[in-house]
Amino acid sequence: MDAVWLSPFYPSPQVDGGYDISDFCGVDPLLGTLDDLDALLRRAHELGLRVVVDLVPNHTSSAHPWFVEALAAGPGSPERDRYIFRDEPTDWVSVFGGSAWTQVPDGQWYLNLFDSAQPDLNWASPRVRADYDDVLRFWLDRGVDGFRIDVGHGLVKDLTFPSFPGSPLDSGSKQRAPYWDQEGVHDLHRRWRSLSDSYSPPARMLCGEVNVSVERAVRYVRPDELHQVFNWPFLMTPWDAVALRAVVDTSISAYGGVGAAPTWVFGNHDMLRMATRFGFAAGEAPRRVGPRSPQPDEALGLRRARAAALLMLALPGSAYVYQGDELGLGEHTTLADADRQDPAFARTAGEDLGRDGCRVPLPWEADAPNLGFGTGRPWLPQPEAYAALARDRQETDPTSVLALYTGALRLRRELDLGAGDLRWLSEPGAHVLAFDRGSVRVTANVGDADLELPPDAEVLLSSDPDVGRKVPSDTTVWWR
Ligand code: GLC
Repeated sequence: MDAVWLSPFYPSPQVDGGYDISDFCGVDPLLGTLDDLDALLRRAHELGLRVVVDLVPNHTSSAHPWFVEALAAGPGSPERDRYIFRDEPTDWVSVFGGSAWTQVPDGQWYLNLFDSAQPDLNWASPRVRADYDDVLRFWLDRGVDGFRIDVGHGLVKDLTFPSFPGSPLDSGSKQRAPYWDQEGVHDLHRRWRSLSDSYSPPARMLCGEVNVSVERAVRYVRPDELHQVFNWPFLMTPWDAVALRAVVDTSISAYGGVGAAPTWVFGNHDMLRMATRFGFAAGEAPRRVGPRSPQPDEALGLRRARAAALLMLALPGSAYVYQGDELGLGEHTTLADADRQDPAFARTAGEDLGRDGCRVPLPWEADAPNLGFGTGRPWLPQPEAYAALARDRQETDPTSVLALYTGALRLRRELDLGAGDLRWLSEPGAHVLAFDRGSVRVTANVGDADLELPPDAEVLLSSDPDVGRKVPSDTTVWWR
């Protein structure tokens, strides 16, 4: 690995897994202290790992002193101008369900695109801009190597407040939501780029959570904006050769066109885990899976997750792996309602099951209490199936998912697969994805029929370690 990205560890009431921050410049006592963070940075740097931290500029926690002051100061005050207050709500809908507006005791309403405990900041306010620069400086001074910018396509809102009753999650709608992908957001990314560049060397990097089409996303990685954005369309692509090839081609050409590296990602803390998603027929995976949903074919999902990992790690650009995917963990698909913590679950009366299923604490040691995840009761129960996938079990097994990832990452670095071109060997429309990465060839069998590599092929790595030069269905092989 080259770097780790830490999701928010800042002081927080933990209404939204730490994305409701009450102090942007501290560490939540639940997790440790600033000294611990400094030690972590030092140790990571000794190991040659960079550390990217989460920047959450779209909103604060309602417990943040800025919001407490805004409520106390009353309508029309400069304190209230830090947020988006109005006398009347609009028809905008929250990402977590329900209205995006919450009323306060004096009658005004504030905007919360996520939970009511996450009031949106007003990025039209020069004061917010200036104060937030200090947040970046605080962490850059401590030596962080960059930021992952939460809701990087949000932040700036159309303050004429046009009607938009549509779902904030519906990227297919004709009208762009008045709070996503607004032109003014690029000024913020430019501002943060020039600020973080002023700290180089060592080089600092910015990666945006930018949930828009590839065509729109490349505007965020123009030379004076972010370095990278997560490749959302890739993350949403089913295990289907035609769809995968199309998104790979579009991404390489679109990002290449602005001189940025494409990124590849199959999972994160908001999405169904890849081993579960791929356990449904292509295109049929539900958004969330709970005890009352159809259940995935776990063996198929794991097989495809292994093949998908080798496919992703062979692509040019930057690959992001969600913690636990390197162990082949599936979603906790049978979490009881009473255990769920995601605010989306309560705000939609259970219609959206929320994201808890992919956030279950990792299994480190198969035989230890809580599978080695600390001594206290974990905030979410771990499924029984996790014991067999514990890190200590996999470390000693050369056929494990962990061994596959470590082997692939080592080769990726040795062969410099993150750089260079991709040349297709397979035909468009085929059920196989075969391509040349210079020193290595990659064959991913996304179809049903077995394939065979040429007799003189030397297999470097296979997602199915038992099959030699055969490439059965749902298998990826690196060879030369
Ligand atoms: C991003 C985060 C998600 C969080 C939301 C609000 O989408 O990835 O976990 O709930 O922003 O901060």
